[in-house]
Amino acid sequence: MKIAIASDHGGFDLKQKLIAYFANKNMPLEDLGTHSTESVDYPDFAKKMSLHILQKKADLGILICGTGIGVSIGANRFKGIRAALVYSPVVADLAKRHNNANILVFGGRTMAFEDVVSCIETFLNATFEGGRHQKRIDKLDME
Ligand code: RB5
Repeated sequence: MKIAIASDHGGFDLKQKLIAYFANKNMPLEDLGTHSTESVDYPDFAKKMSLHILQKKADLGILICGTGIGVSIGANRFKGIRAALVYSPVVADLAKRHNNANILVFGGRTMAFEDVVSCIETFLNATFEGGRHQKRIDKLDME
């Protein structure tokens, strides 16, 4: 599975820690930026990640801003994107089982690193249930 990661300046520190953590586990994360703590605009990174996923250049995206709210709003404007602002392993599990999220979103200033790792690992171990949940997902993209 190919996983990409992107953040604004508010999520930069968490992004760097996640890249290092997963590299250590032989799970490289493709880094779409930003590349420093210099102030940038979160919609640019939400768009970059959304297009990356829609173009099938990665199977899953991880997006981070200060709270996670800005990049969630941005990413969910793209048809076909299901960006889930996740804050606990229970929610991460359901984001896969029920929503089949294709982007996981975290708040770099609101979540502890260890909790984010637990959420990502829980999500990766979960399976989409399909059935009635597929029907609901299909409705999200209807005109
Ligand atoms: C940037 O200061 C901050 O507004 C951004 O990271 C994010 O939290 C927006 O929702």
